[in-house]
Amino acid sequence: MIKPGSDSKVRVLVFGASLRADSLNQKLAALAVGVAERTGALVDHASMRDFDVPSYDGDAEKVSGIPRGAEELRRRLLECDAFIVSSPEYNGSMPGMFKNLIDWTSRFRPQPFDGKHGLLLSASPSLGGGNRGLWALRMPLEHLGARIYPDMFSLAQAHKALVEGDFADVALGSRFEKNIQAFLSLAEAAKHYPCMKRAWVEFLGQPPGTEADRVDPVSA
Ligand code: FNR
Repeated sequence: MIKPGSDSKVRVLVFGASLRADSLNQKLAALAVGVAERTGALVDHASMRDFDVPSYDGDAEKVSGIPRGAEELRRRLLECDAFIVSSPEYNGSMPGMFKNLIDWTSRFRPQPFDGKHGLLLSASPSLGGGNRGLWALRMPLEHLGARIYPDMFSLAQAHKALVEGDFADVALGSRFEKNIQAFLSLAEAAKHYPCMKRAWVEFLGQPPGTEADRVDPVSA
């Protein structure tokens, strides 16, 4: 957990979006934690287990509100300037349980993903490294106002590429490090020089004031 106080440093939430104990994505997330800490960021290294939620159900939401796991993700997102997530690819897309968590978390107002800088990583035994899943994941996150970094790192044949929790190929490890450092530089610049965008409007091109309007008012 990040302690309040040192405001000039970039605060970044990092987790692997897999529940598996031997998860390749958790291993890649742990490597991202190391790079971010060496770069000088304040890191909150979370576990997907911290964000456990039931399947989204609008009736349950009415009766019991938003579940604790989504509340926890909101709280930790709001404490950070940026997030790094390493997500598996399931059937050419993102894991359903991760989308379900994003859906629950999107129900809060103000909407907690808005304005957060995000870096997407993936690891898979396949040659594609789970990269298709990241393109799918980018869509709901950008929809929610997150600024997803253009360069995404997908570790192909991750079961061989990672040995004892580190990159077997030093040059690949260095590429990974540069990707994370470049992302954190952008997050740092954005923290100190925020852009003009203030409000989150879910459907920007929709005539304002309709029944379907989903807008967060002007925020900090
Ligand atoms: C997979 N896997 C997989 N891999 C991939 O590169 N593309 C894919 O479309 C899929 N599809 C898929 C579906 C389902 C249901 C499972 C369980 C797995 C393999 C997956 O990448 C592999 O199991 C990873 O090791 C999962 O990530 P973690 O748990 O190791 O982080």
